[in-house]
Amino acid sequence: MVKHIAILGSTGSIGKNALRVIESLNSSSVPSAKLRTSLGDALCEKEKSQYAIRDTHYEIVALSAHSSFELLAEQARRYKPKYVAITNTDYAHRLGELLGDMDVEILAGPDGLTEIAQLEEVDIVLTAVVGAVGLPAVLAAARKGKQLAIANKEPLVIAGELLVKEARENGCTIVPVDSEHSAIFQAMQAGSCQEVSKIILTASGGPFREVTVEDIQNVTLEQALSHPVWDMGPKITVDSATMMNKAFEIIEAHWLFDMPAESIEVLIHPESIVHSLVEFVDGSVIAQLGTPDMCVPIQYALTYPARVEGIAKHLRLEEIGSLTFERADMEKFRSLPLAYEVARTGGTTAVVFNAANEAAVQEFLAGRIKFVSIVELIEQCLNKHNVKRQVSLEELLEADAWARREVSEAAYSV
Ligand SMILES: NC(=O)c1ccc[n+]([C@@H]2O[C@H](COP(=O)([O-])OP(=O)(O)OC[C@H]3O[C@@H](n4cnc5c(N)ncnc54)[C@H](OP(=O)(O)O)[C@@H]3O)[C@@H](O)[C@H]2O)c1
Repeated sequence: MVKHIAILGSTGSIGKNALRVIESLNSSSVPSAKLRTSLGDALCEKEKSQYAIRDTHYEIVALSAHSSFELLAEQARRYKPKYVAITNTDYAHRLGELLGDMDVEILAGPDGLTEIAQLEEVDIVLTAVVGAVGLPAVLAAARKGKQLAIANKEPLVIAGELLVKEARENGCTIVPVDSEHSAIFQAMQAGSCQEVSKIILTASGGPFREVTVEDIQNVTLEQALSHPVWDMGPKITVDSATMMNKAFEIIEAHWLFDMPAESIEVLIHPESIVHSLVEFVDGSVIAQLGTPDMCVPIQYALTYPARVEGIAKHLRLEEIGSLTFERADMEKFRSLPLAYEVARTGGTTAVVFNAANEAAVQEFLAGRIKFVSIVELIEQCLNKHNVKRQVSLEELLEADAWARREVSEAAYSV
């Protein structure tokens, strides 16, 4: 079997890992294990389809970058996609020069993402761009009934209702790549959705877990960018430090698993070994554990429902010794109570929540505002917002633009 893949954001942290995973999947030999038949016909059928997945070759049809044109050109030479999209048009010409001798179509500008997401020949769309820019492409892929491997959480946060509806109506399977949601998705296989009583999202606590409410006022950009466990892009690293990342994950889980926000808990787990847990109505709690390596959830999203040998280091619990858990500090990390409020209010609040965060993080990364001002600006923006309900994509984008303007203007007066 051949599966055709488009990777949106192939030059980022997730994108590069996805390419490593695909290379390893293509180079691993097909297991010779015989199909087991002793557990009944239904399981046998499932195993047959999983066996076919194990025998899959993954062909890369399209890749995309925003500005990293040199890396994109290198990737194009190595993986030979039919299409490459460069969303920042300033670099299209230079990319064209680097790929002049290759048979590859170059798509320049933001629409290139949507174009590659809905190509007829693409089966799986892996979305690994950063921020709300991924929304039109993710929606287009859902409408075309693709298998969506979603790392880019922002579209689910801002337009979860619309996206899940389009996916259901068009036969699109959404498999989460975010490690926590992948863990929940995997744990959910132990029962039916109706049997789930609670989702427990784990969080490492980020670099400021042990910093006091007073000291967090003066933390630096450098400190915010040094995540204790995960090696990620700058935006998501800052989101981990403010715990906005976890705040978004509450909303993401709410839409992906159709759970009320009150049934989604955040649990601090500094070792990042338990990637999340699901509690069932009988009190059983099923967790997914593993070394902190994004290659595992990326691979599972590609091979689902099968599991195959991967490149991640295997977990040795005896080397870790103990695992610790603690309550999340809702006073220090205001982003968390805000997320519950946003999920309860619904409408355009989530788009404003996300856009305000993107704008504020940009200001912080540029050194124009303090770390604590990120969440303060988001809260101010939410307080000023007139919520609209049952909105179209255009209205969502209007609310998004409004929030970005509000935050950039407010950032000058901080
Ligand atoms: N990294 C992780 O471990 C992790 C874990 C869970 C979820 N996620 C989610 O996965 C997504 C990607 O994260 P990441 O850490 O891989 O980010 P990243 O390293 O910053 O990479 C982002 C990718 O998106 C591209 N991009 C940036 N701005 C763009 C724009 N305006 N339009 C189109 N493409 C753009 C980048 O291209 P250039 O290289 O040209 O800038 C790059 O390919 C995020 O939504 C994040 O929340 C990440």
